[in-house]
Amino acid sequence: MRTPIVAANWKMHKTVREAVDYFRRLLELVPARPPVELVIVPPATLLWVAQKHLGGSVVGWGAQNAYPEPQGAFTGEVSVVQVADLGARYLICGHSERRHIFREDDELVGRKLRAALEGGLIPILCVGETLEERQAGRAWGVVEGQLAAALADLSPEDASRLVIAYEPVWAIGTGVPAQPQDAQEMAAHIRDWLKERFGRTGGRIRIQYGGSVKPENARDFLTLPDIDGALVGGASLDPDKFWAIAQAAAG
Ligand code: PGA
Repeated sequence: MRTPIVAANWKMHKTVREAVDYFRRLLELVPARPPVELVIVPPATLLWVAQKHLGGSVVGWGAQNAYPEPQGAFTGEVSVVQVADLGARYLICGHSERRHIFREDDELVGRKLRAALEGGLIPILCVGETLEERQAGRAWGVVEGQLAAALADLSPEDASRLVIAYEPVWAIGTGVPAQPQDAQEMAAHIRDWLKERFGRTGGRIRIQYGGSVKPENARDFLTLPDIDGALVGGASLDPDKFWAIAQAAAG
């Protein structure tokens, strides 16, 4: 049994006041025992607000980014140790915005993922192809390369804690999601690869879909056999929409 996991990637949005309002509303909506794992991933400036308002609730929180060294002269960065100190339990690794805007390569993504595991966090590893790569028939090759690079030398025990987010780059923030059958096909490829690489553990790793998930289309993705949740950007900024999406994962 893979418990669905639905995560809200707030990206660079919200102030303290807005975050407090959001958390209050979300906690009104979420029952004491939600049937899905719920995760809020705010900017680093709001992790303490999450800790204060979500601490002791069923909603977890995580960080969008962390540098793989525990401390040191890395101006502008925060470490896994620091985000974990604010109660973060998840770390997004390899998001396409970090790969493309901030030029993070597979090597750095792999280091961040290992640092997350060593620091006791659950990595949410994002993989996905660009539109050009898909049109050239290279989608699976690109995703496989990202998986192989980030997960090289990982033990099955460490792998059991992973979450993979399949996010086709062209579907992120565009309002145009993937076709559900394409998302399922890719998730099935990822599942086969994980089983081949990690044995039975591979069958237990959760795979999310991400890219323009909204309440109106969430069921199309969250009922697919190899998709166990969603990584949601834009629609996650509204607590009612985020909860509506999470409910689709439960159904
Ligand atoms: P989106 O973002 O839902 O706004 O497309 C998804 C993501 O970047 O994780």
